[in-house]
Amino acid sequence: MPAWIVVGTQWGDEGKGKATDLLADDVDYVVRYQGGNNAGHTIIVGDTTLKLHLVPSGVMYSDVTPVIGDGVVLDPGVLLDELDALVEQGLDVSNLKISGNAHLIMPYHRELDRVTERYLGRQKLGTTKRGIGPTYADKAARVGMRVQDLYDMKIFRQKLDVVLKEKNATLSRVYNRLPMKAADIETEYAVYAERLRPYIADTMSLLHDALEDGRNVLLEGAQGTLLDLDHGTYPFVTSSNPVAGGALTGAGLGPKHVDRVIGITKAYVTRVGSGPFPTELHDAIGERMTDVGQEYGTTTGRRRRVGWFDAVVARYAARVNGLTEHFLTKLDVLSAFGTLKVCRAYRYQGEEYDHFPPHQSIFHHATPVYEEVSGWNDDITGVTQFAQLPKEAQAYVDRLEELAGVPIRWVSVGPKRSQTLERAA
Ligand code: IMP
Repeated sequence: MPAWIVVGTQWGDEGKGKATDLLADDVDYVVRYQGGNNAGHTIIVGDTTLKLHLVPSGVMYSDVTPVIGDGVVLDPGVLLDELDALVEQGLDVSNLKISGNAHLIMPYHRELDRVTERYLGRQKLGTTKRGIGPTYADKAARVGMRVQDLYDMKIFRQKLDVVLKEKNATLSRVYNRLPMKAADIETEYAVYAERLRPYIADTMSLLHDALEDGRNVLLEGAQGTLLDLDHGTYPFVTSSNPVAGGALTGAGLGPKHVDRVIGITKAYVTRVGSGPFPTELHDAIGERMTDVGQEYGTTTGRRRRVGWFDAVVARYAARVNGLTEHFLTKLDVLSAFGTLKVCRAYRYQGEEYDHFPPHQSIFHHATPVYEEVSGWNDDITGVTQFAQLPKEAQAYVDRLEELAGVPIRWVSVGPKRSQTLERAA
């Protein structure tokens, strides 16, 4: 039986939480494959609002097994707090599975994330300061600490002593910070080890056995395509691979296991942190979009930058992820505007680009080529069938589909599960 991948097609915050949660109805496992607690999902079911950072969406279903895969970076204190909060809301989290291969975010990673951002000054990336970049950097440098190290404290301490020597030298000599003590970290992490023990599993084998048994597996990406370390707007990216390819390495599956790749695409575009954004709005329309769309980060509370829909980005995401369909979110936010704009191409030095430019300087200086589309100026949050949408709203979705080149299978018109319109295949 197949695995499905859910991936953000823009700069994150496309509404993956809601989409994944809805799709989880048909699956047995939901797997987070990369990133860490830099992500934030808001899920609303009935009167319950859940804010998730690390625990996979799908945790709301008692018959779904949530999995934190090998490719994730995990801050154990943050995860345990999140689990406590979910239990307080009445959820059973006992079937969560965590890969021993996932890397641990350590206190020096968080500190280095903070001080290096400060050091970069105006060149800063605008990270979430959760220690994500430094943890992935250590993983690549082969000095990372893994979840499985928690279960051999002798090894844990040996590795920690080696790595901390270098981190403390950097913290104190380069950044003028106080050094950290290995014994304090060991004590803190030994407590986490005991609390996390019931959740640790061989997640790779678990998923293969599940697929062989005919179960459905949903691989849930965090962040989005343009924040991908290899395929995003480098260096203004995160340090992992949110794209569909990352789902395979991050979960330990092969391409033959996957038969659907669902792109989560917002009806307009947002971005948090620094970096180029061709359709960004700096005017009153942008202010309004931020407010109506409630575009503030789930994790950091930061105001998101907003802009018109960018079809060049949508086409790029369709290619780089091999999308089979789109899930369009937040169409209702656009009800607030009379005329809508859609970017169909970029212009740079007199040339038009309808595909993602191959050099970042072009992307940084590209201006959008817009087409105007009529708005609908009507409340659509109560609509239950696509055909009941105002004809302008249907035309907007049809045009986005045509420009993106991949079918839009679902359209979301509000934050609740019930506010989702399914279109015919
Ligand atoms: P980091 O992932 O904390 O290292 O941050 C790197 C960049 O990715 C920054 O621009 C962040 O704002 C952005 N970023 C990280 N996670 C998310 C997310 O879940 N949604 C949107 N942007 C994110």
